[in-house]
Amino acid sequence: MKESRAMLKKYKSVNTGEVALPVCFSHTEGSYIYDADGKKYLDFTSGYGVTNSGWLRKEITDAIQDQLQKSAFAPPWLPSGEAIELSELLLSIVPGNLVKCARAIGGADANEIIHKAVIAATGKKEIVSFYRSYHGGTHFTLNISDSMSFRLPDLPSGKEFHFVDPPYCYRCPFGKCPDSCNLECTTAIEKLFQNKNIGCFFAEPVLGSGGVIIPSQKYWRRIRELCTQYNVFLVFDEVLTGFGRTGTITASEVFGINPDAISFAKGMSSGYTAIGAAILNAELSEALKKFEDVSATFAWTPLSCTAAKKNIELILKEELPHNASAMGETLLRKLNQLFQKYLPMNTGEIRGMGLMIGIELVENIITKIPDQKLMRKILITAFRKGLMICASWDFQALVIMPPLNISEREVEEGIKIIEDTLKELAILPVHSIEQELPNPIITI
Ligand SMILES: Cc1ncc(COP(=O)(O)O)c(C=O)c1O
Repeated sequence: MKESRAMLKKYKSVNTGEVALPVCFSHTEGSYIYDADGKKYLDFTSGYGVTNSGWLRKEITDAIQDQLQKSAFAPPWLPSGEAIELSELLLSIVPGNLVKCARAIGGADANEIIHKAVIAATGKKEIVSFYRSYHGGTHFTLNISDSMSFRLPDLPSGKEFHFVDPPYCYRCPFGKCPDSCNLECTTAIEKLFQNKNIGCFFAEPVLGSGGVIIPSQKYWRRIRELCTQYNVFLVFDEVLTGFGRTGTITASEVFGINPDAISFAKGMSSGYTAIGAAILNAELSEALKKFEDVSATFAWTPLSCTAAKKNIELILKEELPHNASAMGETLLRKLNQLFQKYLPMNTGEIRGMGLMIGIELVENIITKIPDQKLMRKILITAFRKGLMICASWDFQALVIMPPLNISEREVEEGIKIIEDTLKELAILPVHSIEQELPNPIITI
């Protein structure tokens, strides 16, 4: 911890960024992250859902090096061959109603572009989004992210943003279970569509950093119908779910839904370069033309396009969405067994889709009060034993999102560390572990 300690001290003296764990990053090898003291950690986070094709893939670093010999950057007003090829590839993997790409530097930026397009197309500024959603750290995207946790207080424009409950079946506010559910949670949405001037419904198809909340296909079909009926654009923020995370290349595909726009980032380049995209239907892409130039200087440089294209090709060639499904199923089954064995009274729900898994631990299974202390303890104990996992921003759930090329052996290794963690927590009195616990905040 010597090197990390000195680096952390220095970092805090010069940077405002938050520090989640008491170590500094050094490098990666395969599915392992190394800290500045040389300790390695099996990665079950993908840097919060980013490194879908895996860390340091030679195929991508080679492509980047080749591109550097040509040019890293191009004047933003000149289309490049790399941008054309990336657009073609993206359009080949999204639902067929989406016809044009708009370039972005990341997820929030892509969402901003879609917002502009919706306003340009409809003139309507009111938006519906979910509680427990996260859409980015810019002014607009904070406004449509979970209002309680992220919204800036007293924004003059706040009245334009309407929040609705996500279909959070484990905590259904209507007291329903899947058998008795009549999609009561869509009624409030229909009322807003009827009574307000709503331009779009902005949603994560599976809510990620809010704790992996997975709507049903029936739910999304109903929302699609309502959006069509009331002329509201349905926007899927696939920044976290895109590029194989949910077991198919997009979550839109899992649910069989055609949204009117999709935003991508994160797994689009697997973190090799900063890039995002807004993929739009004909009406939205036409409307966007009202703006002379809608993009940012660093959006879709030839270097970023090359990295993203190679990354997506690798995800497709190696069928990583398929691996995400298979490894996700194994993980889900084993995690359920382990948590039921060691913490039966605290295991609220363990749910997942592909390699996006949420573990919700509660004070007891009757009251369902989230046990944030227990979840922090598991995260930090597993970390000390060499496994990195993450959590929702408020520790309502632990979140597991390994790179999509994770092997069976690595899944077994991670499961073994989690079992050792649970064993240790089962025999140690709580205060003896708490004494030197830092406050981990690996969330978004
Ligand atoms: C669903 C979702 N949308 C948008 C964003 C913001 O993306 P970026 O950090 O690239 O701006 C995130 C980031 O965590 C996210 O999870």
